[in-house]
Amino acid sequence: MKFLKNIRAVRSVIRDHKIGSFEFRMNMSVLRSMPYAYICFNAARLGKKLGYKKISVIEYGVAGGSGLLVLEEYIKEIEEYFNIEIDIYGFDTGAGLPEPVDYRDLPYHWKKGFYSMDKDKLQKKLKKAKLVIGNVNDTSKTFFSKYDPAPIGAVMHDFDFYSSTKTALSMMTDNSNFFLPRVYSYFDDTIGGEIELYNDYTGERLAINEFNLNNEDIKICTPHHLKALKPEVWHHQIWISHFFKHTKYNDFISDDNQQLKI
Ligand SMILES: C[S@@+](CC[C@H](N)C(=O)[O-])C[C@H]1O[C@@H](n2cnc3c(N)ncnc32)[C@H](O)[C@@H]1O
Repeated sequence: MKFLKNIRAVRSVIRDHKIGSFEFRMNMSVLRSMPYAYICFNAARLGKKLGYKKISVIEYGVAGGSGLLVLEEYIKEIEEYFNIEIDIYGFDTGAGLPEPVDYRDLPYHWKKGFYSMDKDKLQKKLKKAKLVIGNVNDTSKTFFSKYDPAPIGAVMHDFDFYSSTKTALSMMTDNSNFFLPRVYSYFDDTIGGEIELYNDYTGERLAINEFNLNNEDIKICTPHHLKALKPEVWHHQIWISHFFKHTKYNDFISDDNQQLKI
């Protein structure tokens, strides 16, 4: 017991005093929001390998903004680590959850108005993230023309609802120039517990499944490499969106020397 306590104490010191590089702390699993760190780090690495000077990351569902503020902190370090610029966009109604459309939005678990935002307070705390305020059904139509974002490499899906996530995912179709060829994605509401009972026929999981059924050239895939490791809960909330027809999908990014020794 004492040994475990000591390990926990060492990990807190590493995290709180930022000992070692961002990659080191991420690999030690000491960061508070591991999935956010992991997908943004890997998006930046992919962007760099493909020669981009700037990429974007998106959080769908901002609420009070705690996730977006953590994201800003991580992005600052990741930008320095890879010498790449990263823009951050946060989508939200600004007024909390809309009315659930039907059973697929899990009204037994969520109600309209949950997770409202104090926009002025959050805006004052944000250093670089841009808030895209409005229902995603509307903002998804104007986002690309209004912001002309650098290619999106990481997406945090936290809209909770099937209907909202479906719209967010639809932004990937016919817009591949606004994305990296492989997009690291986190889906917050895909595990839950005995009350939520997330499943393949409702919520974010249904949005993923339907997207894959309806799209040939883009597929949202399971990261088998993570599940083969010593799995942590958040490993089961990561998916990778593959844009097979992206102009850079086939660009070589792996080790140049893969010669096998005799
Ligand atoms: C669980 S909260 C997000 C929490 C946040 N990611 C965090 O880490 O603190 C879900 C948010 O999704 C937003 N949302 C859900 N459906 C939406 C829609 N159709 N358009 C815009 N925002 C939506 C709600 O306003 C709510 O604030």
